[in-house]
Amino acid sequence: MGMRAGTTFTAALAVAAASLATPAARADAAGDAAKGEKVFKKCAACHAVGADAKNKVGPVLNGIVGRPAASIADFAYSDAMKAKAAEGLVWTEEEIGHLLENPKGYVPGTKMSFAGLRKEEERADVIAYLATFAAP
Ligand code: HEC
Repeated sequence: MGMRAGTTFTAALAVAAASLATPAARADAAGDAAKGEKVFKKCAACHAVGADAKNKVGPVLNGIVGRPAASIADFAYSDAMKAKAAEGLVWTEEEIGHLLENPKGYVPGTKMSFAGLRKEEERADVIAYLATFAAP
């Protein structure tokens, strides 16, 4: 009994230490796609992903990681987004992160009416989720 309690206590300490270490360790770490699926609910009113995805208010996001900006042929992008595309913007994870942090700040004049995701962790998680959907 005494020994068991000791083992449990040690395990609890290890868990506590691991969770304390997490925030720092996360800073550069890839996001969590499972958590990102929940974050994507904030995008899903306007964006679809997956096999049957169609453009909605916003363009389909399959294959978005690595996709050139404004490249879905049958979507009517804003002039602002087309100008970014003309400058050569490609949606790397980093660039998507900038967009999601502050859409109107990053692409002034964009028609993506979304306030943004203030938490870096949420941005990383939703980008990890998006990365699981390849281009069709
Ligand atoms: C209210 C609707 C709306 C919401 C919510 C929204 N978006 Fe958008 N999104 C748009 C529209 C519209 C565009 C096209 C912008 C333009 O042409 O200026 C866009 C463009 C984008 C693009 C660039 C696509 C391309 O082909 O260049 C990405 C990436 C993107 N959104 C990701 C997201 C993510 C991730 C979320 C959720 C965190 C989100 N959006 C939430 C409407 C929305």
